[in-house]
Amino acid sequence: MKNKVTQILNIKFPIIQGPMNWLTDAKFVAAVSNAGGLGILGPNAGQENPTRDSNEIVNRMHQEVIKTKELTNKPFGMVLVITMNAKDTQALVNIAITEHVPVVMINGVPGILKPELITPLKENNIKIIYRPLNPTVAEVREAEKAGADIIVATGFDEGGTLPKQVIGTFNIVPTISDAINIPVIAAGGITDIRHVRAAFALGAEGVYVGSAFLATKENRAASNIKESIVNSTSDDLYLFRTLPYFYRSLPTTLGKKLKNMSDSGASREEIDQLMHGMMRIGMYKGKEEGYISLGNGISEIHSILSVKDLISNLMQDFI
Ligand SMILES: Cc1cc2nc3c(=O)[nH]c(=O)nc-3n(C[C@H](O)[C@H](O)[C@H](O)COP(=O)(O)O)c2cc1C
Repeated sequence: MKNKVTQILNIKFPIIQGPMNWLTDAKFVAAVSNAGGLGILGPNAGQENPTRDSNEIVNRMHQEVIKTKELTNKPFGMVLVITMNAKDTQALVNIAITEHVPVVMINGVPGILKPELITPLKENNIKIIYRPLNPTVAEVREAEKAGADIIVATGFDEGGTLPKQVIGTFNIVPTISDAINIPVIAAGGITDIRHVRAAFALGAEGVYVGSAFLATKENRAASNIKESIVNSTSDDLYLFRTLPYFYRSLPTTLGKKLKNMSDSGASREEIDQLMHGMMRIGMYKGKEEGYISLGNGISEIHSILSVKDLISNLMQDFI
């Protein structure tokens, strides 16, 4: 079954894998695309070691794009804003154009979709998925005018960096869908077929999924983390605040510490400093010293599946 999202992205099923930093790589992204969804390379995709060198960050993304193209001939995407530097973003736009990457995902705040960013993408027929970090009606209307092809409406149920407004997926999706004419895809807490059906009932025309993909065989998360996802529920997740967002973590040593600091009024700077780089340690390395960011939908994840089987489960109404 085709809909606007599958037509715009030229994919089989309206399911998009949310980029997840170190936990994405060419193999995983290609597995999602080969199974009929849209895989997206996140920042630090496929990397082993951290770097702060801008040229190196851009170069590494370029290499991962090349590897992805070797593993799939289906559409896939890449994130476009990795560092805070406009020159790096421009370099990533150039990679998207020269490597014919079909889709880019832009994460952002109001005003980011400037003509100098959007025009070259449009001229090269690259589709733009825009995900406001804090979705509001005003911002998505602005993004629609600026040329975004698809908007992600993210609810507070998600994993990763949580929106500033504490509005759940159930409410943000219809609010955003009613506000614009381009298709909206729902993010936050989508891990089983009931969540997918609910998202479509609320006006979404696709789903944008992170946490459920972490518990797949092809994902880079450490195997003990995949087991923890299967064995945990949303009730196990600690919520803490940082600059200026909220995060969740399973109760690792660092997760507990961050929650205690947050509860006892530590400054956001202090919390932010302790978190820096520690998602990689928690989720890629599988160590207690890191934090483990997940969405509320983990309660409905009961086994570690292949990417293909997960997509078949979630997309059973579209086969
Ligand atoms: C561990 C983890 C890391 C993430 N890293 C990123 C990232 O680097 N860039 C980004 O745009 N979104 C990131 N996200 C957000 C996802 O792309 C997606 O919006 C989110 O996972 C959807 O909610 P769900 O986890 O409930 O499915 C991350 C999410 C998780 C769980």
